[in-house]
Amino acid sequence: MARKIVITSGKGGVGKTTVCANLGVKLANMGFRVVMLDADIGLNNLDVVMGIESKIVFDISDVVSAKCRFKQALIQDDRYPTLYIMPSAQIDCKNSISGPQFKNVVDMLSPSFDYILIDCPAGIECGFHRAVFCANEALIIVTPHISSVRDADKVLSILSSYNLHSKALIVNRVRGDMLLSGEIISVEKIISLLRIPIMGVIPEDDAISTLSSLGAFAYGTSGAKAFSILSENIHNGSKKIYDCTYKYRGIVGLIRRNIKKRV
Ligand SMILES: Nc1ncnc2c1ncn2[C@@H]1O[C@H](COP(=O)(O)OP(=O)(O)OP(=O)(O)O)[C@@H](O)[C@H]1O
Ligand SMILES: [Mg+2]
Repeated sequence: MARKIVITSGKGGVGKTTVCANLGVKLANMGFRVVMLDADIGLNNLDVVMGIESKIVFDISDVVSAKCRFKQALIQDDRYPTLYIMPSAQIDCKNSISGPQFKNVVDMLSPSFDYILIDCPAGIECGFHRAVFCANEALIIVTPHISSVRDADKVLSILSSYNLHSKALIVNRVRGDMLLSGEIISVEKIISLLRIPIMGVIPEDDAISTLSSLGAFAYGTSGAKAFSILSENIHNGSKKIYDCTYKYRGIVGLIRRNIKKRV
């Protein structure tokens, strides 16, 4: 049976889809059978990030309405044979798929995969509840900004009414230079405010934002390294955290910080 992990947040645009896509790639790279489920019905973008938009014939709404079998809607990634995507409905039918119907699809997928990653829509409306209802575990994405932390706190209180085995934080878009100069909230402070364990820290990485829209992933970059550590933490239960300040320390780091400040 698969581990069913919902990737959620309070605030929109903090990196749920980015984390889902990159985590899916890393877990598939480790040899696991992974399916990514886009729960953002009507506002799908996981397919765009993964570069599979043009391959979609059937989507989750066709599975729910029995127009196709669930295997027909799954799209296999070209680069990673054990990575699949279940596309979200292309049309706006967000209120026509119920939580139990969505859960039914997740349960159908479960015996064939090791991981089901559910990309949650923004907000706390019915799409959020539908996505969380299907999961056993939740990863809450937060950026080091007070508005994001506040919204994550609200989401955590809603999540406490669900029967989740575990909840953990991912701090995304962390700028090492700003962390050192105290311009953004530290990861330790975020943990102390939200009082849940940390699963990973992902740096702000230009390569992520420029390449993700092309369905490509940046190898050897700081973002890619952080996602490798994150996927190992998720699978092995290890507690390594990527150090975003690393390249901004020492004399060379100081020069980098000054350059970054000017641009
Ligand atoms: N670590 C990062 N470094 C740089 N850019 C990032 C990073 N994480 C996400 N982004 C960029 O931020 C933007 C929003 O990311 P994404 O779409 O993953 O957020 P989301 O939480 O899924 O949004 P929504 O709530 O609308 O679904 C994208 O352009 C993405 O490329
Ligand atoms: Mg998204």
